[in-house]
Amino acid sequence: MEYGFQIKSFEEYKEAYRQSLEQPEEFWAGIADEFLWRRKWDKVMECDFKKADFKWFINGKLNITENCIDRHLLHDGDTPAIIWESNSKEEASRVITYKDLYFRVNQFANVLKNSGVKKGDRVCIYMGMVPELPIAMLACARIGAIHSVIFGGFSAQSIADRLKDANVEFIITCDGAFRGGKDIPLKNIVDDALTTCQFVKKVIVLLRTHTPVSMIKGRDKWWHEEIKKVEAQGNSPVTAEEMDSEDPLFILYTSGSTGKPKGVVHSSAGYMVYTTYTFVNVFQYKPGDVHFCTADIGWVTGHTYILYSVLCAGGTSLMFEGMLTWPDPGRLWDIVDKHKVNVLLTVPTAIRSLMAFGLTPFKGKNLSSLKVLGTCGEPINEEAWRWYNENVGKSRCPIVDTWWQTENGGIMIANLAGVTPSKPGYSTLPLPGVLPVLVDEHGNEIMGNSVSGYLCIKSPWPAIIRTTYNDHERCRLNYFATYENMYFTGDGAYRDENGFYRITGRVDDVLNVSAHRIGTAELENAINMHTGVIESAVVGYPHELKGQGIYAYVIMEKKPVGPELIAEDIRATVARIIGPIAKPDKIQFVNGLPKTPSGKIMRRILRKIAEGEMKQFGDTTILLDPSVVDEIKKGRI
Ligand code: WTA
Repeated sequence: MEYGFQIKSFEEYKEAYRQSLEQPEEFWAGIADEFLWRRKWDKVMECDFKKADFKWFINGKLNITENCIDRHLLHDGDTPAIIWESNSKEEASRVITYKDLYFRVNQFANVLKNSGVKKGDRVCIYMGMVPELPIAMLACARIGAIHSVIFGGFSAQSIADRLKDANVEFIITCDGAFRGGKDIPLKNIVDDALTTCQFVKKVIVLLRTHTPVSMIKGRDKWWHEEIKKVEAQGNSPVTAEEMDSEDPLFILYTSGSTGKPKGVVHSSAGYMVYTTYTFVNVFQYKPGDVHFCTADIGWVTGHTYILYSVLCAGGTSLMFEGMLTWPDPGRLWDIVDKHKVNVLLTVPTAIRSLMAFGLTPFKGKNLSSLKVLGTCGEPINEEAWRWYNENVGKSRCPIVDTWWQTENGGIMIANLAGVTPSKPGYSTLPLPGVLPVLVDEHGNEIMGNSVSGYLCIKSPWPAIIRTTYNDHERCRLNYFATYENMYFTGDGAYRDENGFYRITGRVDDVLNVSAHRIGTAELENAINMHTGVIESAVVGYPHELKGQGIYAYVIMEKKPVGPELIAEDIRATVARIIGPIAKPDKIQFVNGLPKTPSGKIMRRILRKIAEGEMKQFGDTTILLDPSVVDEIKKGRI
């Protein structure tokens, strides 16, 4: 379908942007009008930055799945909603039309109902990239349950922490997930998590890899057997639950600068309106486009730009189970060619790893269907941008560099493909409704162009984070208390002479490793769990492929004999506590850490050493023991 709010020229963008800030209520009402509502809103918004209290489309009633599925049935029922490509080249692709999706989502919604899931219940989804994953998410949304999807690379401990935080009683998982040459035993990992989560009542298990699993009587049910029961009941569609605009749609955990991941909560209406608006405009969606976002649905990019926004626009979303370079480095290009992909959205880390294979993997692959390329998740270096442009886009596809965060719901700063100007390494201009500002450390706004500062957002947008689950104060303190009357992103940015933004990276204690956010405090907690470790400090350093690598300085009770072996053991502990993505790249054993007399670790010095900068640490005489710096420098890896 086509939305009337699609911006078609730079002039139109400027006009939309002006109106969005001068008359935000009229502006967003005009956009929201194009969606399906059970009941329209009384007031467009009430926003209070001080209390971190945001309400959009107040008293509106809707169900997002009626926008994602039902409304397309009449004209686009036979259009593919999801095209699925398996991990294995040999396994057939699956095409799920909007009609099929309607059927499957209703069927699984009935399974959830039979299992006792009700509106407002939290449902954890821990699955591989199979079509049943979006079906499970949509089925939750259909009956008003709040899904909490956990990326399939997280450990049992991480799952348990998330289950406890949101008091989750229902889990949907798979026996296993295929990832490249591996078979990840998801159900076993869930079982490990559940040893400390007795409050979980039901686990629904999809058969995928035929890995042996233990099914606990009364608690664990096979997906296909539950479906059979629904068939026996007559397979009637469920009536979508009427949701208030502000009813939570999902929780998604993300790392911050404190030890514990936060459950970011998004609303039903604001999230739907904003994400669809950004999808249609940034990627310049045209009916029939095949949109391929290579992210995992377990991250926000997947939630928004594989699932919700694409389906609300009536588009076709390609989802891929495997790895872009497996079984060979031409796999991604095979898929683009095979499914005639029009829009490709990926992360700079993937581009850099593909670059390493040279141009041979492109041989014989027809990429002429591509119209728009996108990147997200981390800063893109100019070399990768140019390679992407020349070899993938053949210098004829606009590249959109989309900056945003889990807490934002959708893209905040990006060029609109072929409509607004682009510049390598720059996300360029804000989306309508978004007023970015740069501030210094005291919160003073830095005016003018060609300046750098901390990036904040001064205007509320419909998909702004509503709360952190069960702890609103944490949300307020994290994002709205650092600087008055604005949302603090945790990122640094540069505004060039034309007012274009370049996001330079995190300015807080969060690392961005292969476009995944990992908090240093979380990492240190995990390392400190390892036997014999007294203390640790983690910093990031530039990594050719991953963007940032993880550098850990570790103090042990006893000087380690065979440090490499112990380092491997520590990595194993981190993988067990958080997940394999968080394994430190470098571990240096030290006798002390540079600390101020008040006991604060001077991370600035550790960061410089990790980066290979051996001089200019500033004043080190204030350190409790300045000699540790020399020792650390000598032992640098
Ligand atoms: C970083 C991912 C530079 C940034 C959608 C942000 C980016 C964090 C870009 C959010 C970009 C995201 N250029 N950096 N285009 N996009 N980032 O929550 O540091 O997983 O704060 O959301 O990724 O990561 P998250």
